[in-house]
Amino acid sequence: MQVREVRLALIGLGNVGRNFLKILEIKEERLREQYGLTFSVVCVADSSGVAVDAAGFDPATVRACKERGGRVADLPGFRPGVTAGAIAATLACDLVLEASPVNLAHGDPGLSVARHALGRGIPVVLANKGPLVLAFRELHDLAAAHGAGLAFSATVCGALPVINIGRRDLIAADVTLLQGIFNSTTNFILAEMAAGRPYAAALAEAQVRGIAEADPALDVEGWDTANKLVIIANSFLGVEITLSDVAVQGITDLTPAQIEEAASRGSVVKLLATAQATAEGYRFSIAPAAVEQDSFLGRCSGWEMGVEIHSDLYGKMYHKIWEREPLPTAAAMLRDAVNLLAK
Ligand SMILES: NC(=O)c1ccc[n+]([C@@H]2O[C@H](COP(=O)([O-])OP(=O)(O)OC[C@H]3O[C@@H](n4cnc5c(N)ncnc54)[C@H](OP(=O)(O)O)[C@@H]3O)[C@@H](O)[C@H]2O)c1
Repeated sequence: MQVREVRLALIGLGNVGRNFLKILEIKEERLREQYGLTFSVVCVADSSGVAVDAAGFDPATVRACKERGGRVADLPGFRPGVTAGAIAATLACDLVLEASPVNLAHGDPGLSVARHALGRGIPVVLANKGPLVLAFRELHDLAAAHGAGLAFSATVCGALPVINIGRRDLIAADVTLLQGIFNSTTNFILAEMAAGRPYAAALAEAQVRGIAEADPALDVEGWDTANKLVIIANSFLGVEITLSDVAVQGITDLTPAQIEEAASRGSVVKLLATAQATAEGYRFSIAPAAVEQDSFLGRCSGWEMGVEIHSDLYGKMYHKIWEREPLPTAAAMLRDAVNLLAK
């Protein structure tokens, strides 16, 4: 098989970015032999800035540097004063992977990175939801105008391929109800609270495991779940919505007594994302709700996330994942990259 070298830029070297580097290390041979691809990491970025090496950084060396608490500013090839957005405007590369924190105010650095890369015809894979939540249509128009691929299956429920299923496998469907548990940090906290553990201790564990958002308010106040519902709506429910179209309530006001009361009725409290079709169009909401313990979503517990999709053509679908560390999310970025490169 002919092997193609793919020069990639990796923006964000946190839990997801470092796991992506790990996958390049452990799957190097498989990617070359089965998919005809070798990845050369020509650019990396973290909050200290950007480093470039046209010959490619060794993924293990970069990962070890970050795991020791090092910074991109310590790497050879560091470009002082250059931002991730600026490098995406000039870098010679074939693919950009974006895994920096969500910023719902201005979207950067992810939004600038995506705009510059797509505007130059360079395919982009996002784990970061922010750019899509703020500029879904703009980024897709840019990608189409410049013939660049844009993939983001890692943005919704980690490695659970909700976006892929919705776009590829629900052809011509009218979705009547989509309901899910999209945030494993809150799902874990709720399960631990039901078992008597304090809220703060459960949140701290989710942070240590690298599952919580950099700003955990996004998780517990429901915005991370809302971001995912906005991405789903725009990508396969056929409606262009923003966060202002979603009624959002998180779990911060829930008390142990409310959780106990639900349990006494055979129910369990979940942070549910709902897109309900009505005669006037979809109604979108994020809110804690008591569901029967024995239902599909009631049985999505702890580190699990799940989605239930009812449609006119495809019956009722139920999909779930158990994901306790960010490796599967990093793998979802790999699958997106390989699928885009195959086109
Ligand atoms: N963790 C998950 O399970 C998961 C699942 C699905 C999607 N996601 C999404 O994936 C993205 C990354 O998540 P994560 O858990 O890896 O986050 P994280 O651990 O907080 O890592 C974020 C990375 O981005 C870097 N960064 C911050 N500001 C930057 C800037 N201005 N320019 C370039 N890099 C910058 C950080 O630098 P430093 O290293 O210097 O701090 C860090 O390396 C987020 O958008 C998140 O929503 C995460």
